[in-house]
Amino acid sequence: MRHFRSFSILIFVALAISTSALGQSRKIEQRVDSLLKQMTLEEKIGQLTQYAGDNQATGPVNFKGDHLALIKSGKIGSMLSIMGTKYTRQYQEAAMQSRLKIPLLFGLDVIHGYKTTFPIPLAEAASWDIGLIERSARIAAIEASASGIHWTFAPMVDIGRDPRWGRVMEGAGEDPYLASRIAFARVRGFQGTGLGNLDSVMACAKHFTAYGAAVGGRDYNSVDMSLPQLWDIYLPPFKAAVDAGAATFMNSFNDLNGVPATGNHYLQREILKDRWNFQGFIVSDWGSIGEMVPHGYAADRKDAALKAILAGNDMDMESSAYRFALAELVNEKKVPMAVVDEAVRRILRKKFELGLFDDPFRYSDPEREGRELNNPEHRDFAREIARKSIVLLKNDKQTLPLSKNVRSIAFIGPNVKAERDNHGFWSVHLPNLDYDKFIVSQWEGVRSKVSGETKMVYAQGCDVDCRTTDGFAEAVEAAKLSDVVVLSVGERANMSGEAKSRSNIHLPGKQEELIKAVVATGKPVVVLINAGRPLVFDWTADNVPAIVYTWWLGTEAGNAIADVLFGDYNPSGKLPMTFPRSEGQIPIYYNHFNTGRPARDEDANNYVSAYIDLKNSPKFPFGFGLSYTDFKYADLKLDRSQIRPDGKIGVTFELTNTGKVAGEEVVQLYLHDRVGSLVRPVKELKDFQKVKLGPGETKRLSFTIDKEKLSFFNGDLQWVAEPGEFEIMIGSSSADIRLRDKFELVK
Ligand code: NOJ
Repeated sequence: MRHFRSFSILIFVALAISTSALGQSRKIEQRVDSLLKQMTLEEKIGQLTQYAGDNQATGPVNFKGDHLALIKSGKIGSMLSIMGTKYTRQYQEAAMQSRLKIPLLFGLDVIHGYKTTFPIPLAEAASWDIGLIERSARIAAIEASASGIHWTFAPMVDIGRDPRWGRVMEGAGEDPYLASRIAFARVRGFQGTGLGNLDSVMACAKHFTAYGAAVGGRDYNSVDMSLPQLWDIYLPPFKAAVDAGAATFMNSFNDLNGVPATGNHYLQREILKDRWNFQGFIVSDWGSIGEMVPHGYAADRKDAALKAILAGNDMDMESSAYRFALAELVNEKKVPMAVVDEAVRRILRKKFELGLFDDPFRYSDPEREGRELNNPEHRDFAREIARKSIVLLKNDKQTLPLSKNVRSIAFIGPNVKAERDNHGFWSVHLPNLDYDKFIVSQWEGVRSKVSGETKMVYAQGCDVDCRTTDGFAEAVEAAKLSDVVVLSVGERANMSGEAKSRSNIHLPGKQEELIKAVVATGKPVVVLINAGRPLVFDWTADNVPAIVYTWWLGTEAGNAIADVLFGDYNPSGKLPMTFPRSEGQIPIYYNHFNTGRPARDEDANNYVSAYIDLKNSPKFPFGFGLSYTDFKYADLKLDRSQIRPDGKIGVTFELTNTGKVAGEEVVQLYLHDRVGSLVRPVKELKDFQKVKLGPGETKRLSFTIDKEKLSFFNGDLQWVAEPGEFEIMIGSSSADIRLRDKFELVK
C-alpha cells in the first residue's frame, strides 16, 4: 500500500511537471506570437543575423562594421566569440537600446572546457567514460554561462575516418555507436537540467552533415556518399543529439552529393526538421551561406540567401547574406514571410527559454564569474578526465610504471615544457588570462611527482618541426647520464583543428630520428605522443618499449601524465579511431565491409583486396588500449539462441582482473549481421561497459541484445532488422575478440 501511495505521488509529480512544462511552452509561443506581430521585416532579419566580435574571427572576415550601432538598430540578433561578463554586458546594453529590446544571444566555441580546459574531445572519447564526458560538458557550461555565454557551438559530432582531416580532434572518432553515446552525453552536459537554468548553455550539434568525409581528408572539401552510408554511419550521432534535446544545429561547409549542406533541403528540412521533428534552430557555419557562390550552387549572395532560407537554414553566421538580400527576396515574393517568421520563431523561442526576455543580463554576474572560473573542483576534475583519456599503446617488459624513486630521468623532446599547447586546438582565448601560468606542463607534473632526490635532466632535442639534428647530441648525452628516458614528441596543438589537414601524418620532421638516437643509448625509453589525431610512427611502435598516447589533455595535462607514468593511475583509455600503418591505408576503419575477396595480412598477393606493399591491418586498432594489469574473459552465455523481433537475448560472461593492481577495462560488444539485403560491416560496436576490478577480482557482466541493436538502414532507408544469423563478439578491442557465439533472428 505504501509503495502504491509513493508511486501515485511520483506519477502526480511527473504529471504536474509535464503539465507545467506544457503551460510554460504555450506561454512562450504566445509571447513569440505577440513579439513577431510587432516586428518589422528588418527587425526579423536582424534576429537571423550573427557576427563575431572585433578581432575574434574564426574564419575569413567579409564584413567589418560597427556592430554596436547595428545592434542598437535591431540588425543583429546574436554575436559570437564575445566572452566575459564585462563584454557581454556591454553588448547586451546596446541591444537594450534597440526599439524592441530583443536580447542578444552570445555563442562561442566552448569545445573542451572554458577557463579550465579538458582534454580535446577525441581524447575524452578515448576514456569511453560517458558519465565523465557528460560532467566535462557540464563544467564547461557552468564556467561559460557564468562568463556571459548562452550557447556553445558544440558538440561536434562528425564521424572521423580520416586522420588527415585535422578536425578529428573535435569529434568522438570513427564509430557511430560510441559517437552517439558521447553526443547524447555532451548535449545533456551542456544543457544540464534545461535551458533557463543559469548554469546551462544551449548545445549545437555540428556540422550537419558528413563534413568528416571530406575527400582526401582536406578540410572543406566535397563529400560524395551513398544514402545508406549517410544514414548508418554519419547521421546517428546527430539523431542522438536531437534525442538529447539539442537546442541548435550548425550546418556544414561541404557539399554532399553535389548540394552544399547549407542549402540542402533534404538534410535540413526533410530529415532534421520534419522527420526528426527538431524544434530548435539551425545556424550556418561561418560564411557558409556566401560560400555557396564559389561552390557554384548560387549565382550571387542573394541567390545564396534564397537557397539557404528555403532549405531551412535559420541563422546566418557572418555571411551578411540575409542582412543584405532577404528583405528584397521577401518583397519580390520569392521567400514567403511565413518562412522568415518560422526561422525567427525558432530563435526567439530559445531566447525566451533562456529567460533573456525576463532579464537580459542574467548571465552577466561578475561575482558568479569570479567564483566559477576559479573553482578548484573544476581543476580536480580536469586531472581526473585527463588521466582517463590517456591511452597506453605499448608496455614491453613492464617498462611502466616508473618508480618515483628513480635516481635520474632524462626528460627530452619538444613538448616537455609546452604550456599553452596542452590546451589543444579550440581552447577558449580569454582576455587577460595568463594562460601559461595556468597550465601544468609535463615537466612540472613529473617534477612534483618524483622524489626530491631524483635528478631530472632536460634536453629539447629539437622543436616540434624538428628540421635539424643540431640538438640531438645534447639529448643523447642527457639520456646517457640517466637511468630512464622519457621522450615527449608529437604535434603542436595547432597542427590539428580547423583548416589543419595534413597529407603527411608521421611524427613531424626528424622527430623519429631523435627517438632512434636516444634508443640507441640502450637506456629504457618511454615515448609520450602529443597529438590531435592518430599519427604514424611505425619505427617507434616497433622499437620503443613503452608508448603513451597523450593527445592534448588540457589544464592538468602534466599532472595527469605523471599520474600514469608513475602508476598513481592505471591507464584505461581505448582508441576511438584506428591508427594506420601509413597514410596509404586511409581512410581506414574497423567497421568495413568484407568484400568478395577478403584478405588476411599474410596473403596479399593472392588476388585479394589488399596492397602488395602493405598489410591491411592497422598499426593500432579501434578500441585498443593497454593497462598495467590484464583481464581474462570467460564463460560466455546466451540465454537463447533465437530471438524474435520483439524479443531480447541476455548475454553474460565473466571478467577477471588477473594482475596485481586494480584496473579498468572497457569491454566491447560487437555484432556481425552475416547476410543482408545490403552488405553489412565485418563487425559493429553495439554496446560497451567500463568496469573497474581489484586485483584477482571477477565479475559476471551482462548485455542485452534487442532488435534495435540488429537494425540498419536498408536500400529504401528503412530501419530494419533482417532475419538470419548474427555473430556476437566480445573483446578488449575491435581486433582482440575474446569470446564468440552466434544466434538467429527469426520472424
Ligand atoms: C567555423 C567552424 O567550422 C565551426 O565549427 C565554428 O563553430 C565556427 N567557425 C565559429 O567559430
